[in-house]
Amino acid sequence: MHYRLINYVLLLLLTGLMLNSSAYASDAKVLMLVDTCVACHGSNGNSVGPATPSIAGMRKNLFIKAMTDMKSGKRPSTVMHIIAKGYTDEEIELMAEFFNKQTFVNKFAPQPLVDNEKARQGKMLHEQHCSGCHKIGGPRKPLGNKIAGQWVPYLRYRISEFRSGADTTSPIMASALEYFFKLHQDDGIEDLLHYYGSLK
Ligand code: HEC
Ligand code: HEC
Repeated sequence: MHYRLINYVLLLLLTGLMLNSSAYASDAKVLMLVDTCVACHGSNGNSVGPATPSIAGMRKNLFIKAMTDMKSGKRPSTVMHIIAKGYTDEEIELMAEFFNKQTFVNKFAPQPLVDNEKARQGKMLHEQHCSGCHKIGGPRKPLGNKIAGQWVPYLRYRISEFRSGADTTSPIMASALEYFFKLHQDDGIEDLLHYYGSLK
């Protein structure tokens, strides 16, 4: 009886150890993988430069989609098509989980050159046209990426990619923008960008 109990306790300890050590192993692996990203996306995915998006807290499925589309060249990119090629699907998934758990912090808000009047107009336009998918606050999960507090030059660039048809990976965005442009043209986009740049 005693022996059995001891064996049982040992078994529990052993499985506990094994589970722990495999968790450590994948933690160590993911830290090694994301070490490459820090130079541009900042530590924990909070970018420090205007051409590089923050990826902290990015939704897992959008992260995987972005990496896969840039890897295949379907989504245009300046550097990421080269970087993404270095990772397998499993590694991309591990990194997606890692970045999803990081907290988005925007130390730079409001970003330079935010015009308050444009930002005020932009808020109204956002609520009308974009808030359904890109939630700014509140409990509901957004469908699209977080764009509040994202670097404005990056956002401007992304919008032009969808608009010119250079990025065909998100028909939903292309049609949302097409409709928006018919009504509000470039000035409307500028207002939106000032609004996003004013936010944390
Ligand atoms: C040399 C700088 C650089 C490095 C290193 C880098 N990135 Fe990027 N990343 C960028 C830039 C710039 C973009 C915008 C697309 C482009 O032009 O390549 C981007 C875009 C992305 C996006 C798309 C985000 C969005 O909002 O759609 C993801 C995801 C991403 N990078 C993940 C990573 C991961 C994961 C690593 C590390 C394995 C990494 N990046 C390393 C510069 C970099
Ligand atoms: C019907 C849903 C929907 C609407 C409406 C919508 N978007 Fe999007 N948007 C998305 C999705 C989904 C993505 C992610 C696409 C992807 O990367 O695969 C996205 C991506 C983006 C990106 C790129 C973000 C990044 O990190 O690269 C920008 C910028 C953007 N949207 C701006 C806007 C603006 C501005 C509006 C309003 C005029 C708008 N969107 C309306 C669904 C939507």
